Amino acid sequence: MKTLKSICLIVVLTIGLAACGSKKEATTTATEDYGTPDESGQKIASVDAITQGESLVNASDCKTCHHRNDKLIGPAHLDVAKKYDFTAANVTLLADKIINGVVELGRVPMSPHPDITKENAEKMAKYVLSLDGEKEH
Ligand code: HEC
Repeated sequence: MKTLKSICLIVVLTIGLAACGSKKEATTTATEDYGTPDESGQKIASVDAITQGESLVNASDCKTCHHRNDKLIGPAHLDVAKKYDFTAANVTLLADKIINGVVELGRVPMSPHPDITKENAEKMAKYVLSLDGEKEH
């Protein structure tokens, strides 16, 4: 009888947790109103590239190796922002590095991201370059 009681308790707890989980999911999708490019091209065009870049960086694997302020396997994205001027040329340069990866002899390589489009890589680059408060010029 004791086991039956604890099984019941587990079932009730699981249902309870599942209910909480789905509620949380519902609120996050509700606040996230930019949608994906195929859902609504117009909607995404109205959100600025830096904000989109931030979401793209957060959704990708970048955080495995990069932290905003601290060096992990890769340099802190804030340090990348300080190292480069926020110019169109550097947006292209960093977007290429994001897509193709960085392999330099004697240094830890950055993995390539062939699945990221040039457009999205440029948004990510813009987000990284904006971290030191610089505006594109
Ligand atoms: C496997 C680890 C790893 C992942 C994942 C990774 N990076 Fe990197 N990244 C590195 C390393 C290491 C470097 C430094 C390479 C070097 O020596 O120049 C680097 C360099 C960079 C640079 C260029 C810095 C410079 O000084 O030129 C940018 C920009 C960058 N990463 C952005 C990203 C973004 C955005 C993502 C996610 C899409 C990402 N990285 C994912 C490891 C990683």
